[in-house]
Amino acid sequence: MQIKDSVVFITGANRGLGLAYARAALAAGAKKVYAAARDPKSITLEGVHAVALDVTRPQQVEAAARDCGDVTLLINNAGISRGSGLLSPTAMEVARDELETNFFGPWALSRAFAPVLAKNGGGAIVNVLSALSWISLPSVATYSTSKSATWSLSNGLRNELRGQGTLVTSVHVGYMDTDMASQVTGDKTSPDDVARQTFAAVEAELPEVLADATARMVKQGFVADPPAYAAVA
Ligand SMILES: NC(=O)c1ccc[n+]([C@@H]2O[C@H](COP(=O)([O-])OP(=O)(O)OC[C@H]3O[C@@H](n4cnc5c(N)ncnc54)[C@H](OP(=O)(O)O)[C@@H]3O)[C@@H](O)[C@H]2O)c1
Repeated sequence: MQIKDSVVFITGANRGLGLAYARAALAAGAKKVYAAARDPKSITLEGVHAVALDVTRPQQVEAAARDCGDVTLLINNAGISRGSGLLSPTAMEVARDELETNFFGPWALSRAFAPVLAKNGGGAIVNVLSALSWISLPSVATYSTSKSATWSLSNGLRNELRGQGTLVTSVHVGYMDTDMASQVTGDKTSPDDVARQTFAAVEAELPEVLADATARMVKQGFVADPPAYAAVA
């Protein structure tokens, strides 16, 4: 599908990568851009339609799919990282929060919008994942479990939506220059670059974007001995 004349719905579109997607969609000539955020007043970009949406609230998800019946491209971007290892006292509580936003959120949005996309000719779903879907670091290990689960979700959705002509594209990236990685020093990919690569992949009908050197290295590391995900972190 082409981004030009598409109708795009982006979760977490008030800042970071979500805002970059909104800007890129407008620049590419999208017919309409729904910019969803927990606080719609935080949407300041001109030219978009602000939507109130906390992805962990089923009623808001259903309302969004009902009210935005012209969507052709859903971008599951919203995410949280609470910075926890697996054995800390609060690890499971943190993991449940991260799963609600990073896994159940995209799942609920995809289920709600699947009939909308079918009605509008198939369209596409983009799921923002991470290089951390495939490797785990002690400081963000609970986040990694949520992104691994969502990688599987993305693969399963691709199978189940193929019949209605909906493309499902997973985006893997290492550190990006957004609030989420503000503590990280060193190289970070620009969210604008990730948005550009994502839209190119959707237009080329690709199932996956490896948006930076880290994501490419980790994926290649699957067949190394030892594999990248078993290396000492
Ligand atoms: N930054 C990185 O290094 C990096 C690397 C790989 C993948 N990612 C992924 O990229 C995506 C975008 O992250 P980012 O880097 O742009 O992070 P960010 O700057 O922290 O932005 C996160 C966005 O998600 C929204 N959000 C969080 N919980 C939400 C909820 N329950 N409902 C609706 N919106 C919610 C936030 O809204 P509020 O303003 O209301 O909090 C914000 O708009 C995430 O899926 C993240 O996991 C990030």
